Amino acid sequence: MNIVVLAGGLSPERNVSFASGAMVAQALQRKGHQVAMVDLYLGLEDYGHPLADLFRLPPPLPDLSIKEEEPDLEAVKAARKLQSGSIFGQGVLAACQMADVVFNALHGESGEDGRIQAAFDMLGIAYTGSGYLGSAIAMDKNYTKQLAAAEGILTPQWRTVKLTDREIEEVERSEPLPCVVKIHNGGSSVGVFICRTGEELHKALRECRRLGRQVLVEQFVEGRDFFCGVLDGESLPPIEVIPKTGFYDYKNKYVAGASLEVCPAQVDGKAEAQMRSAARRIHELLGLTAYSRSDFVLDKDNRPWFLEVNTLPGMTDTSLLPQEAAAVGVDYDTLCQKIVDASLE
Ligand code: DAL
Ligand code: MG
Repeated sequence: MNIVVLAGGLSPERNVSFASGAMVAQALQRKGHQVAMVDLYLGLEDYGHPLADLFRLPPPLPDLSIKEEEPDLEAVKAARKLQSGSIFGQGVLAACQMADVVFNALHGESGEDGRIQAAFDMLGIAYTGSGYLGSAIAMDKNYTKQLAAAEGILTPQWRTVKLTDREIEEVERSEPLPCVVKIHNGGSSVGVFICRTGEELHKALRECRRLGRQVLVEQFVEGRDFFCGVLDGESLPPIEVIPKTGFYDYKNKYVAGASLEVCPAQVDGKAEAQMRSAARRIHELLGLTAYSRSDFVLDKDNRPWFLEVNTLPGMTDTSLLPQEAAAVGVDYDTLCQKIVDASLE
């Protein structure tokens, strides 16, 4: 097949997406496909190859592993400046229309939130992963939690807060601590703050203003971090992540060795079954396609609390879904092939 791996984009997870995309592109190449990787907005120039080289992924692919401990927001700003209808229209869409399927390796805003999916639907371009509606709902942690709660899935108490002076002051006055402040549509823990003191809450809310206009303020559940993937309708064995320091933030997600990942997780059997069932139910409820990963915290009584679902989970060398798949004998290349196959069914 001719496959375009779409990576980069304009969210703070831009470099995470390059890291996912580079690995996926090489895996699909090994599976015998003709593969090109393109940046959603910058087009092919970014990698120094002209449009004519579209279906030739020059070996070796540039090193696109994540090098920074925090998202490179300057690179995102630069990409936004260069964002132009012409490159998007002429380059990327032309590339996508020439391919049998687009492997969507984007993360976050624009790529994971239903917008590109809707555009592809309109243009008749086949793509991997979920459709626009499930993607849009899943990207919004508030809507996702509302649906989960309505299904009886345990999720920490929360409220949404607009980042106006008035609402910020109200939260600071009334929110019980500890709590978690998170951008309502973020990813990779960018814009996530655990607040144990009033001062931390104050700082977090102001920091979030740089990243968006609305946050979730969620009850903090002390416990262990678990993640449970769904692949082609079946849940995968949960993985536990134990960061060596602090919580599972951007650095602990992407710096190799910063966290210990245990899969299959050593966990109470009932809790495991609950996580697997909740991950599957959320996947079905949102009408998701091919794959997803739900994130949980397990409290001291072994109760899993659902936090969110990711419709384009990370596919980097430190990412979790590939490790869960490996635990059931599905290697990385086969996982990428399965995602393509399940998306085209
Ligand atoms: N948002 C990142 C890529 C993840 O969920 O793995
Ligand atoms: Mg996420």
